[in-house]
Amino acid sequence: MKKTIKTVAIILIGFVVTTGFMISKSSYLTPEGKPEGSPWLCPDKNAKMVCQVKPDEGILATGKDVWNTHCKSCHGKTGQGNGVKAENIDISCGDFTSARFVNATDGELYWKTTEGRKPMPSFKLKLSDIERWSVVLYTRTFVKKAKNATDKES
Ligand code: HEC
Repeated sequence: MKKTIKTVAIILIGFVVTTGFMISKSSYLTPEGKPEGSPWLCPDKNAKMVCQVKPDEGILATGKDVWNTHCKSCHGKTGQGNGVKAENIDISCGDFTSARFVNATDGELYWKTTEGRKPMPSFKLKLSDIERWSVVLYTRTFVKKAKNATDKES
């Protein structure tokens, strides 16, 4: 009888130590410290696609709506990759104000938004062409917003 209690106790301790280790290991990852996904190359002809939609007030309002409904949860309110769902994703969602995104063509952002890549969903069927172009144009406003914020600080 005593032996059984001892065995159960050992198993329990082992379980607690293992889960404790796993939890501390996962909480160690911060949004900034996460690795980037493997290179995600956009086909040339898609990258060269020119946006036919003009970023007027209406289009940017549509883009903002789409962003807040479908993208913000992972990419964050202003595209810095710090949305609430990002906590549970083990790679970085990227930063729309970083050089890599700024230098990407509209066509490339549009293609990646359309296709998605796990864990990011595809928006081919969820959003119309205009909605996808609108959200791409809306993401271009994040750089200006980030710059205004730093100007105010300094
Ligand atoms: C479930 C979380 C999630 C949602 C929702 C989401 N994304 Fe993403 N997105 C990611 C992750 C993670 C990556 C990085 C993917 C990779 O590197 O494989 C990514 C990458 C991207 C990229 C490509 C960045 C690069 O590396 O060049 C673009 C563009 C993008 N997302 C746009 C959007 C837009 C626009 C929406 C909304 C319409 C959206 N995403 C919704 C998680 C998400």
